[in-house]
Amino acid sequence: MSDTPATRHTPRVFSGVQPTGNLTLGNYLGAVRNFVALQEDDTFERLYCVVDMHAITQPFKPAELKTAIYEVAAAFIAAGLDPEKSILFNQSRVTAHAELGWIFNCVARMGWLNRMTQFKEKAGKNKENASVGLYAYPNLMAADILAYRATHVPVGEDQKQHLELTRDIAQKFNSDFNAPDFFPLCEPLIPAESARIMSLRDGTAKMSKSDPSDNSRINLSDTADVIAQKIRKAKTDPEPLPGEAAGLADRPEARNLVGIFAALLGSTPDDVLKDFGGKGFGDFKPALAELTVEKIAPIGNEMRRLTAEPDHIDAILMAGAERAARIARPIMADVYETLGLTGGGSAGW
Ligand code: TYM
Repeated sequence: MSDTPATRHTPRVFSGVQPTGNLTLGNYLGAVRNFVALQEDDTFERLYCVVDMHAITQPFKPAELKTAIYEVAAAFIAAGLDPEKSILFNQSRVTAHAELGWIFNCVARMGWLNRMTQFKEKAGKNKENASVGLYAYPNLMAADILAYRATHVPVGEDQKQHLELTRDIAQKFNSDFNAPDFFPLCEPLIPAESARIMSLRDGTAKMSKSDPSDNSRINLSDTADVIAQKIRKAKTDPEPLPGEAAGLADRPEARNLVGIFAALLGSTPDDVLKDFGGKGFGDFKPALAELTVEKIAPIGNEMRRLTAEPDHIDAILMAGAERAARIARPIMADVYETLGLTGGGSAGW
């Protein structure tokens, strides 16, 4: 971790997950598992958010969005987040996100947003038809983090560019309004072994909830049978596994599967290859399937139990939102005051 001004602020972790479709093994290994690990570190206050307002930047169906919000909250809890130890809530319940998001629309520069690769990927060829919200998405993400003056943000590698933008926004706000250190420059916390889990059908594409092929991903809600079947069908190559990770360099599918095995086990690809080097996928895949089922299927079972009681989840999200709003309120009062927006925001509180 670098020595940035972040250290002068209360150590606080914030992260978010979009309620768009099923959560995947990529979301779990790249982010959610890290959220749970941070729970054991009392240095930090922790906020984990279902970012439902980000989910409306692309076409969606209201009834499905509502279900997905509960599902992501259930996945958080099923994966091991304790609503007492971490603040769990959904974004739209705390108005500070939208308010600060608008302010950051006026701080961030068009040129900065034009460089965002995720916008280009998500908008595709039809950029003219993308929502303005999809374009301004990273400003809302910066607002999520800075409404709490969060100092650390656990994410997968694909969010790195957005976090660099968050730092740029914080820095520009601090300097434009002559408020040194008003916002911290947050640090990304990106896991070493599982920063980028790839598709089971194409080792060069990210495992994603939006991939049209369900066989490309393991969903946290998949049953043991489905998990085993998807691993059996995963794309591989005809060579046996090498003895060391360096031998995986030009073998994206093999590298991904060995990486998943290592991440699930909490070891390294080199260690995995000590056991499997020289063996074929006929030996490796059943072992990977068994390990994945052991680690992931219980999460799916617990999610099913929790989503059967939406009122319980609702109460957790409501209590979390109240705690989150208590942190954001004085920060937002400071923001409005700093901008000269007299009395700003107070009507909504
Ligand atoms: P989202 O919902 O796409 O993904 C949630 C988290 O999962 C990580 N992730 C992966 N990690 C490794 N391998 C993969 N294949 C993989 N797929 C997804 C993501 O990096 C992320 O950490 N913009 C964010 C949500 C967000 C947010 C925030 C995050 C909104 N506001 C504030 C942090 C702080 C997103 O779309 O994540």
